[in-house]
Amino acid sequence: MKLSVAIAGKGGTGKTTLAALLIRAFREKGTGTVLAVDADPNSNLAEALGVEPGRPLGEIREQGSTPEGSPPSGIGRARAIENEIQRAVTEADGFDLITMGRGEGPRCYCYVNNLLRESLDTLSRNYEVVVMDNEAGMEHLSRRTTNNMDFLITVVNPTLPSIRAAKRILALSRQLPIRIEHRTVLVNRAASDGLREEITRAIAELDAERVPDVPQDDAVERVGVSGGSVFTLPDQTPALVAVRNTVETALAASSMAGGRE
Ligand SMILES: Nc1ncnc2c1ncn2[C@@H]1O[C@H](COP(=O)(O)OP(=O)(O)OP(=O)(O)O)[C@@H](O)[C@H]1O
Ligand SMILES: [Mg+2]
Repeated sequence: MKLSVAIAGKGGTGKTTLAALLIRAFREKGTGTVLAVDADPNSNLAEALGVEPGRPLGEIREQGSTPEGSPPSGIGRARAIENEIQRAVTEADGFDLITMGRGEGPRCYCYVNNLLRESLDTLSRNYEVVVMDNEAGMEHLSRRTTNNMDFLITVVNPTLPSIRAAKRILALSRQLPIRIEHRTVLVNRAASDGLREEITRAIAELDAERVPDVPQDDAVERVGVSGGSVFTLPDQTPALVAVRNTVETALAASSMAGGRE
């Protein structure tokens, strides 16, 4: 059985950092094979994981489409795209990474988009855990390049603008024709002396389950500034300790937990 987690939120709230920390925590936990999906065209998930990104899927999409945008023909083409996707996977120590690349071009690539989504779906079936880092906003979801998911983690900081953005993202997520099992909100960079009351109230008003907060962590900040990997962080750094709780929460709430116990 598989657990899929997609991360969304306002720009700069810490989506990529959390995706990378989650991948480290899932890997440690030994839940099985982990696929990291970088769905942000300005991607830096590979960097945060300390690996070289493979060829972006977006390039395969562009080449898989004809100039007129008409459907490429034949099952052979579909198989060729699947092979390309397999080759685009970067194999790292304890997880694999796939990069989505840039967004849709000016023409309609609907057929190839669908093919890509289905191929990503097929690829995902080979993994126990899939963690997808997204761009700010939810455009990727509107483009339907995203599949059903068990957890949508909407990241906020202790700021009202990021909570308003989360509200919009959660509302949009409800309009999409995809299944989202748990809509959650995660407060990242929480101060050690707790949240201000207006922030706590605004978060409580969101139509989402709250998962454990992740604190402001100076070691994480330093790694972010230098473009380093989360695998260089100390084992007990507070943000990683908190993200291990998120992993426990996700595993406990998912059918995976039921299936394994
Ligand atoms: N818990 C934390 N403690 C300290 N610094 C953090 C924490 N989480 C994230 N940061 C820092 O905040 C900055 C932004 O984080 P990150 O790039 O993960 O955000 P993002 O939401 O992915 O941004 P974008 O929308 O541009 O993709 C980085 O420098 C990162 O190191
Ligand atoms: Mg990011």
